[in-house]
Order: sequence, then C-alpha cells, then structure tokens
Amino acid sequence: MRHLMSPLDFSVEELDQLLDLANDIEKHPEKYAHACDGKKLATLFYEPSTRTRLSFEAAMMNLGGNIFGFSSAASSSAAKGESVSDTIRMVSCYADICAMRHPKEGAPMVASAVSSIPVINAGDGGHQHPTQTLTDLLTIRSLKGRLDHLVIGLCGDLKFGRTVHSLVRALARYEHVTFVFISPEELKVPEYIKEDVLKAENIPYKEVERIEDVMPELDILYMTRVQRERFFNEADYVRLKDFYILNNKKMNLAKDDMIVMHPLPRVNEISVEVDKDPRAAYFRQVQYGVYVRMALILTLLEVKVC
Ligand code: NCD
Repeated sequence: MRHLMSPLDFSVEELDQLLDLANDIEKHPEKYAHACDGKKLATLFYEPSTRTRLSFEAAMMNLGGNIFGFSSAASSSAAKGESVSDTIRMVSCYADICAMRHPKEGAPMVASAVSSIPVINAGDGGHQHPTQTLTDLLTIRSLKGRLDHLVIGLCGDLKFGRTVHSLVRALARYEHVTFVFISPEELKVPEYIKEDVLKAENIPYKEVERIEDVMPELDILYMTRVQRERFFNEADYVRLKDFYILNNKKMNLAKDDMIVMHPLPRVNEISVEVDKDPRAAYFRQVQYGVYVRMALILTLLEVKVC
C-alpha cells in the first residue's frame, strides 16, 4: 500500500505516468466515470480549504465514488482531544482512501504509519503540499510542453508557503531548471531548502526583492499569498501583505508566452485586471487539479482503466 506525503514519493518516471493518466482523463472523462464505483474517499481537514478539499471530492465523484469527511478540527473529535492516530484507525474502517490536511507539520505522516488505507497529505502546516505540486506540474507540462529548461520565478511568501517548498523539490529533479526567488528579506525561502535541495544538487538560483528586475527572463511566474495564519504577529503580516501586487504594468515586462500561476486563494497579490491576460493560468490550474487528483486516486487504489 502506498501513501503520498511528498512529491518525491514518486520517481520522475512514475510522475510522468501519473501526468499522462491525468491528460488522458482530461481527453476522455467518460472512460473513467465508473472507475471507483463503490469506493469511498474520506476528507479529513483540520485546517480551512476550498480548492483542495472540493477538488478531491469532485475528483472522487467524477470517478463514480463516494465521499465523506469533516472540514474543520472544531467539527471533529479532535475538539474532544482525539489523536490523529486514533482518528485514522477509525477512518480506515469506513473508507478506502483518505486525504488529510493539518496545521501541524508531519501529522499526515503520523497517520500513515498506523493507517490501513492510503493517506494523501493535503497540506501539513508550512511543510509540504504534494497534490498542489502535482497540479502545478500538470499545468506546466500541459501549457509549456515541458518540465525542463525553464526559468521559474516564485514570488511572495517563500518562507511559510508550503506549495513553494514542495514545488521546488519536485522541479529540482528536471534538467536546466533555474529558480528566481522573489521575496522581501523576512519571507525568504528557508535555508534548509537552499542547502538540502539547491546547493546539494548545484541547481542555479538567485534571490531578488523587486519583481520588475527579473520579469523579462521568466518562463513562469508563480505568485503566492502571504500566509497570515503562520505569522507570529499581526503587525508583521500587515506590513508585508501588499509587498507585491502583480498588475498589467508589470505584466508588460514579461515574455509573450510566460504563464502566471497561483495555488489560490489570492488576496491582493494579483490585481483582477490580470485575469483577462491570456498568460494568466491560475484558473486553468484549478481544473488541472481535479484531473491530477483523479489520476492520483486511481494510482493509489491500483485501479486500472483500459
Ligand atoms: C494553498 C495552501 O493551502 O497551502 N492553497 C491551496 O491548497 N490551493 C496556498 C495558500 O493557502 O496560500
């Protein structure tokens, strides 16, 4: 039995197969409409979510399966003091697979150690968000045609943004990927990612503060929200929250075929005027998230569709 804790749990070849499956689902959704008839997905969300939870639920429904779960710790027995380990032992008796989001780093890993069903990490604190990364990889591969030879700018809260941490790890495995980290001093990408991933593998990267300085060189601009819930004090959040606002003026500096991505939710970091720009890919990214989660559920449940 397999779980998904980190995007690196899949080899590059396995990831290719998963993304191929997601593209086939996109082209022929009807082929997969009953692939999970009679199967159940539990969504255990101890932290707020719109896209990730609904996208998992839509994915399972598109496969003909059923869903149930909770969407906040307050509405689960966590409020009575039940441990994650006990909850997952119990959920293993009800469901065939589960997706868990938790504010504590490592909680889904703890669950996977005692679970008798596949556990998917749907975001653990400021650590990782592997299914967002699968979504991002599918979006990049589908819209740019490749996962190598790319210059990717990651902008905003690179310190607390788990989507950034997972995506850097995943893209670092492809040839000739250059990272441009765009953030204020206080929200720089953590040292452990620079040391363990980038420096260890000799992967080129640079860190800048002004988005305008690097815009013309980017193939992808990955915007992120300042992660208010992970700040220790509100004053810092207020000072940093509007540090970057992408608008049409800044978009004019970019290549014609650059794409703008964002895991969403957006707050102020992308002005709504950018939504009309054909290079804005963040809503298409949401649709890819459903296809890739369908592919992931099929893969972890070992369901084959001919
Ligand atoms: C992200 C998350 O939860 O980390 N959202 C998502 O799952 N699409 C990004 C965010 O909350 O800023």
